[in-house]
Amino acid sequence: MASRQSKPRPARAARVSKRKARAGTLSSAGLPKAWSGRFAEPVDELVKRFTASVSFDKRLSGADIRGSLAHARMLAARKIISAGDLAAIERGMAAISREIAAGRFAWSLEAEDVHLNIEQRLTALVGDAGKRLHTGRSRNDQVATDVRLYLRDEIDSIRATLVTLQGQLLDSASKYADVVMPGFTHMQVAQPVTFGHHLLAYFEMFERDRERLADCRRRVNRLPLGAAALAGTTFPIDRESVAKELGFESICENSLDAVSDRDFAIEFAAAASLILVHLSRFSEELIVWMSPRYRFITLPDRFCTGSSIMPQKKNPDVPELVRGKAGRVFGHLVGLLTLMKGQPLAYNKDNQEDKEPLFDTIDTVRDCLTVFADLVAGIRPVPDRMRAAALEGFATATDLADYLVGKGVAFRDAHEIVARAVRAAEQKGCDLADLPLAALRDFSPRIGVDVFDWLTLEGSVARRKHRGGTAPAQVRLAVARGKRRLARA
Ligand code: ARG
Repeated sequence: MASRQSKPRPARAARVSKRKARAGTLSSAGLPKAWSGRFAEPVDELVKRFTASVSFDKRLSGADIRGSLAHARMLAARKIISAGDLAAIERGMAAISREIAAGRFAWSLEAEDVHLNIEQRLTALVGDAGKRLHTGRSRNDQVATDVRLYLRDEIDSIRATLVTLQGQLLDSASKYADVVMPGFTHMQVAQPVTFGHHLLAYFEMFERDRERLADCRRRVNRLPLGAAALAGTTFPIDRESVAKELGFESICENSLDAVSDRDFAIEFAAAASLILVHLSRFSEELIVWMSPRYRFITLPDRFCTGSSIMPQKKNPDVPELVRGKAGRVFGHLVGLLTLMKGQPLAYNKDNQEDKEPLFDTIDTVRDCLTVFADLVAGIRPVPDRMRAAALEGFATATDLADYLVGKGVAFRDAHEIVARAVRAAEQKGCDLADLPLAALRDFSPRIGVDVFDWLTLEGSVARRKHRGGTAPAQVRLAVARGKRRLARA
């Protein structure tokens, strides 16, 4: 009895909830939507906003117009559209470019994304020719093309910024080729190095970053257009000519792959992450060196800020912020990887989520590199402080061992002899170079008066004069090699 009475109820409830779900007040599960009272608009308005990308993908407008023009020219060459249509499209696109440049273009949420915004405006300006532009094309291959074109240009500009930063490192390295500082392992004074040599380590890191970007660019620079929605098109298109006009090195060979994969953006984010790894290491060193405990360097005031409460403070905000930005860029890399993971072929709307992390990665890496190029120019070493620190940790102990090897002692025996000498100096509270010759000879009779040349910081660095070593002469040669590399860039 009870079950009979209650039976029509769920059926009616289901009909009602379906209706309400259509009206936007219920979720598909029949539950009132948590936000229904908060939003004045019906659900389709929210979906419109939720799915729209124009607010951020409008930065692809330049690439979108270039891609559309190349597509239209190919369509006309293949007689898929008329010469008159092409002329109208070219005229319309020129007007649209002007509107966008002047900030007069009326971007509309109704038109969802950059592609439809431009296409609708084109049709408004030139009529039916605008409606023919999308022949043999889909937004799926269009957006993939736009992102690749845009990213290719940004890679070129980031690589140029790396060159500027590297040039600055070379200038500073040659200026400070003779400045001796302690080199560290485990944050303990290890052996003396030159400040120029230390800076050149970063030159090398950024050189590899530049190579990585060049390599990534090769895979970015392939044309997806022609894949259409996913399967290609029935029109007799000419993909090679479009690729040539747009400066793509080759075309994507498989239409399904062309519209779906964003591995090129992930690769870029990985390369950008490594740049931030390098910048964050450099930042960390600058922060430590600038601290009053070290005082190895000074940074110009324009890169520092004071404290609102402690009047004496000068904080290295810029390197700290760059160190922090690394987390942001790594986050974008993981975001893009996760976005792609498990996506079935071919295009899915998930891919619209590639843009904000990609754009923010581009902006962040560019800003960090730009500010760092300027920052490097302002780093001033404090040679006395560096020197004093290098004299503290028996930094020339290895040199003494090498000296003994030169006198015929086996390296392992020399190592042991020096270890004992270091212990004695430590007990006396002095450096190895401060021990009298007689005391040193107690450890090995092979030690002669010429040993003191080996125990000085300058002698130590000057002897590491092979390629890749820290000797001032080698630093100068490395700077010259680096300059030649940059000149070829
Ligand atoms: N705004 C879209 C994106 O960024 C463009 C492609 C849309 N394609 C589609 N079938 N909904 O991915």
